[in-house]
Amino acid sequence: MKHRRVLRAAVTVAVTGALAAGMTMALTTSANAGTTLRASAAEKGRYFGAAVATGKLSTSAYVTVLNREFNSVVAENEMKWDATEPQQGQFRYTGGDRLVSHAQANGMSVRGHALLWYQQQPGWAQNMSGSTLRSAMINHVTQVATHYRGKIHSWDVVNEAFADGGSGGRRDSNLQRTGNDWIEAAFRAARAADPGAKLCYNDYNTDGINAKSTGIYNMVRDFKSRGVPIDCVGFQSHLGTSLASDYQANLQRFADLGVDVQITELDVMTGGNQANIYGAVTRACMNVSRCTGITVWGVRDCDSWRGSDNALLFDCNGNKKAAYTNVLNALNAGPGIPTDPPTDPPTDPPTDPPTDPPTDPPTVGCSASVSLNSWTGGFVASVKVTAGSAGTSGWNVGFTLPSGASVTNTWSATASGSTGTVRFANVNYNGRLGAGQVTEFGFQGTGSASGVTPTCTAS
Ligand code: G3I
Repeated sequence: MKHRRVLRAAVTVAVTGALAAGMTMALTTSANAGTTLRASAAEKGRYFGAAVATGKLSTSAYVTVLNREFNSVVAENEMKWDATEPQQGQFRYTGGDRLVSHAQANGMSVRGHALLWYQQQPGWAQNMSGSTLRSAMINHVTQVATHYRGKIHSWDVVNEAFADGGSGGRRDSNLQRTGNDWIEAAFRAARAADPGAKLCYNDYNTDGINAKSTGIYNMVRDFKSRGVPIDCVGFQSHLGTSLASDYQANLQRFADLGVDVQITELDVMTGGNQANIYGAVTRACMNVSRCTGITVWGVRDCDSWRGSDNALLFDCNGNKKAAYTNVLNALNAGPGIPTDPPTDPPTDPPTDPPTDPPTDPPTVGCSASVSLNSWTGGFVASVKVTAGSAGTSGWNVGFTLPSGASVTNTWSATASGSTGTVRFANVNYNGRLGAGQVTEFGFQGTGSASGVTPTCTAS
């Protein structure tokens, strides 16, 4: 509970530039865009993962969504210390092994979480201290990483070792009290046990450049300079109703130290900004070439540790939410990771008009097409506007909604009306389109929009 309050406090900063920029970014759709998170991420050289409670692997509705959408998994609890070494020296891998088998059978990679953490320690370790604890914890790292050797893409070797607040220092814990070098000792033991796994440090409330993330940054810089084997930093990203303006810049400064970055436990408070924040986080990762993947902390809202926050991408029935659409669009629009040898210059966010050839035949004015994601009682419409052969200086798209349907939220356009005949006008950055150029906007609504067709007028 205390942990949860800390998170909440840390995520209620004002809506800031990165999110605002994200909300107003026009997306273009590649002709090869994927239609699932896993396909779209893979097309861009990344993974898209979910935390899994292995008990749910026998629930078919859960597994259907998991297998369709995700190509990476992490155990929500089953690889933690209390689960894997309940008695000292007696290791139990049942849950973790089950997840690894599921992943291997379904083309998924596995994140390992977490070898050492001040929480979820078995009682016997909680009661230890000093050199006895130091040897027990290093033995734990060695045994577990050896058991899973060759099967783990990235290990969270150490989780949440830094303090909240402004100190930028370490959190007090029994682990910390064994000596400040406990983290590097753990990384060295993990490297020896599984040289193929990427070794990560993972933490929360590191969603921008702040005292805590800077403390971690300094540690990583020190580790790199001294040859301590660290390969990646995980940003948990348990988010509230806004996103730090320097979220992407923070990822980039770590990447610039020569480590990969990963979004490791993403979930976002429900509400008007949820979908936008999910989109903005995904775009930030895509814009950082060393951001190699995103993991959401659960599959459906009802699977989440955040309970009534409805913090995930699928509702309790497994239906896609607006947040899902934004993530998918951001994956499809984002740059890929440069291949080796690099074929493209470093990838910055696109600032120029899209260069993809138009996918629709040119028309004199403009044309529009809509794709609907619907669930019982609601929908999200993604609308593609294509300029005709004369280009546009502005556009307006109309829909006649069925009775009972109502628009509740619009992005990248300005809506007039919410029921019946509803019109969407360009906003200032996306009205001017060259011949055949494509832009997208979207809206969310209640009721059903089944069968609607857009009409587009250019000016
Ligand atoms: O082990 C008992 C089990 O025997 C009992 O049947 C069951 C009944 O509810 O409770 C079980 O333990 C719970 C465990 O989840 C498994 O469900 C613990 O009480 C509960 O505290 C534990 O919560 C987990 C939490 O970490 C522990 O701090 C959440 O599922 C898990 O989502 C959460 O994940 C953490 C990450 O590891 C690190 N970052 C933050 C994130 C959210 O807190």
